[in-house]
Amino acid sequence: MSANTIEINRARQSFDGVSAIWLFGYGSLIYKVDFPFLEQRPATIRGWQRRFWQGSHDHRGTPDAPGRVVTLVEQPDAVCKGMAYRVSPSVFEHLDVREKNGYLRFTTRLTFDDGCHGDGVVYIATEDNEAFLGHAPDQDIARQIAGAAGPSGPNSEYLLRLADSLRQLGTECAHTFAIERHLKTALLDGD
Ligand code: SIN
Repeated sequence: MSANTIEINRARQSFDGVSAIWLFGYGSLIYKVDFPFLEQRPATIRGWQRRFWQGSHDHRGTPDAPGRVVTLVEQPDAVCKGMAYRVSPSVFEHLDVREKNGYLRFTTRLTFDDGCHGDGVVYIATEDNEAFLGHAPDQDIARQIAGAAGPSGPNSEYLLRLADSLRQLGTECAHTFAIERHLKTALLDGD
């Protein structure tokens, strides 16, 4: 599948007759909120885990030196914490461009912190997209992140801001925190 998903996403879901919909963010959508929203609530989704397995050629890297950003990978019983925003469907015109490097919109079941449920939309970069990088040892991922930068800034900033946001949400993400530790060591060593 082409890494540019703008047209695929436009054709994929219709919001006809819908005035507001939940959007679930688990990566930069937690801390970089460059879209209007009606309401925001911490939430979880089940069956998916956060992984730095997606290449970033357009935001936190370049085509020659891609960075690494998060996507979700299926894992039965995994619980992924993030932030849900109730948005107008028009917001997806902007988000489809922002998330164009391999991310597709999926519908997901959300659980809010008070135990209530709702349905929402989540952007996931599946392994069949051209920018997908997949698994690598945590230290290698951290080294790649330490050396990458793109139009949205250094890749290290993406990781550090995400890790801080997850701490603020009170969630443990062993994968993100392990890469953050390696990154901090790499930055100190000038690696
Ligand atoms: C998300 O944050 O939900 C999607 C991945 C990203 O933009 O970092």
